[in-house]
Amino acid sequence: MEVLTKNAIQILEDRYLMKNNEGVVTETADALFKRVAEYICGCEKKDSAKWSKAFYKVMSELKFLPNSPTLMNAGCDHAQLSACFVLPVEDSLESIFTTLKNAALIHQSGGGTGFNFSAVRPKGDLINSSKGQSSGPVSFMKIYDAATEYVKQGGKRRGANMGILNVDHPDIEEFIMSKSDKKSIENFNLSVGISNAFMKAVEDDSGWQLINPHTQKIARIISAKSLWELMVQEAWKTGDPGLIFIDAINDSNTTPDLGRIQATNPCGEVPLFDNESCNLGSVNLSRITIFKNGKYEIDWHELSRIIHIGIRFLDNVITLNHYPLPEIKISTLHSRRIGLGLMGWAELLILLNIPYASKKALLLAEKLMKFFQRESYDASEKLALERGTFPSWKLSTFGTSNRKMRNATCNSIAPTGTISVIANTSYSIEPLFALAYRRVGILEGKIQTEINAVFIKKMKMLNLWNSPIKKIVLESGNLNGCNNIPRKIKDIFTTGLDIPWKYHLLHQKAFQKYTDNAVSKTINLPEQTSLRDISDIYKTAYKYGLKGITVYRYGSRVGQVLQKCNVT
Ligand code: CDP
Repeated sequence: MEVLTKNAIQILEDRYLMKNNEGVVTETADALFKRVAEYICGCEKKDSAKWSKAFYKVMSELKFLPNSPTLMNAGCDHAQLSACFVLPVEDSLESIFTTLKNAALIHQSGGGTGFNFSAVRPKGDLINSSKGQSSGPVSFMKIYDAATEYVKQGGKRRGANMGILNVDHPDIEEFIMSKSDKKSIENFNLSVGISNAFMKAVEDDSGWQLINPHTQKIARIISAKSLWELMVQEAWKTGDPGLIFIDAINDSNTTPDLGRIQATNPCGEVPLFDNESCNLGSVNLSRITIFKNGKYEIDWHELSRIIHIGIRFLDNVITLNHYPLPEIKISTLHSRRIGLGLMGWAELLILLNIPYASKKALLLAEKLMKFFQRESYDASEKLALERGTFPSWKLSTFGTSNRKMRNATCNSIAPTGTISVIANTSYSIEPLFALAYRRVGILEGKIQTEINAVFIKKMKMLNLWNSPIKKIVLESGNLNGCNNIPRKIKDIFTTGLDIPWKYHLLHQKAFQKYTDNAVSKTINLPEQTSLRDISDIYKTAYKYGLKGITVYRYGSRVGQVLQKCNVT
């Protein structure tokens, strides 16, 4: 069992370890990994002990971790193990409130929910039965938001939601502005569902038709460019709305016979059909290296081994999961979607002496993810031969090309917001936010200052670690003020806000190229970023064929989780 950091232990004690009725922790971290491993090998017909041991080993060595609900709930009664759900919202009170109830049940079990509200008739539309007026999708989102506030996930964290409205809905401007006061709808990420046709209208500076989903009639024609500018302005101000590119999502849908996908989970890494769920897991790249001839290298053999174990683990989760609703069970078992991703990318680059903002990093990102996808598909194919293909395989893109697969999708790049803290590595594919930082909120008000451990290790290897440098890093969070460190070395340690946005996007593009689900990435921007920059970022994301885009300008939200260490 690897030694855990103080922050990891604190998070585990607060949220993951079993407690008795008095709230006293009754489990160690080691016992947690054993509990999870034992439960997840429960569907292994042969060699169950071998798999239990393998699952325990990859988790306790912090080389692979499943998403939080699996760590929290595996082995408990009626354990719900998935992080991601999409629920249907139809144009009726019955559907809206049934889904609200189901979302509450999912939040209670530790999952997050995504919804596309575009079928709901606009504000002011006629309601046939009462002859009254409809209050529109945004008002219902507010009700969902209020409910989320009061249902804590598994009693451990507040629920997360994704609210989507398509760009041709008559209430789109109200939706775009709905978080403008920086205090409404806090439990939702917002995304506008963007079509190729809309992007062309923006390019051509033409009129854009808003269509009433209830009557299918044109409600209004507005300027596409003005609508675009409104999205840009709000994203600059608050970080919302992001965009999801619905056509790009459906172009790579592996099961097009099941229909068009309209929504994603809360952080955007899994496009799902209504009533589908997905479970995630992440490989910790910072632990998949070998030290040879005085240098770190990627251990490709070990990476392949961990990916094969990870895919098997996640496929077992689908079989063993207790689904919150029968319809979710049916849809999920039909496609058996999983999302194996990664964390610790920035730390891996530091170990390899590669600056994040470099062509070398982008080339490695593509090479690595291509390998990651190929190994994941091989693992899923092996499982298909052993256990059978996913039920809707025949009409899927895999079926038509006659490649046997156990899972309709294999890879997602999740934010790894908590599991990377447990594994003590950098988030997902994000650059280091700062070399020293305080995590606020994540530990319920207990603020911890951390200097990145891989940074210290590397500086020591370079014989550059001393107390004046430590002082500068603690004060500023970066090496910019250290005049005696060569540029070449500083570049290896460049942090999030000093990385040009183009490189953030290029990393997202490089990883998306070989990710069948999607990549959750936040384009972290300095406070002085302009409206024009946001517009360029959103347009470039579309041009790159990304499935979604989220920006965050430093300081634009109250209570952000990571703060540079000089900000309290
Ligand atoms: O690190 P952890 O497994 O806790 O989660 P993550 O990688 O940060 O987020 C993965 C997914 O978990 C998100 O996209 C959401 O679907 C869900 N999630 C949630 O429901 N509630 C949260 N507070 C955080 C994440």
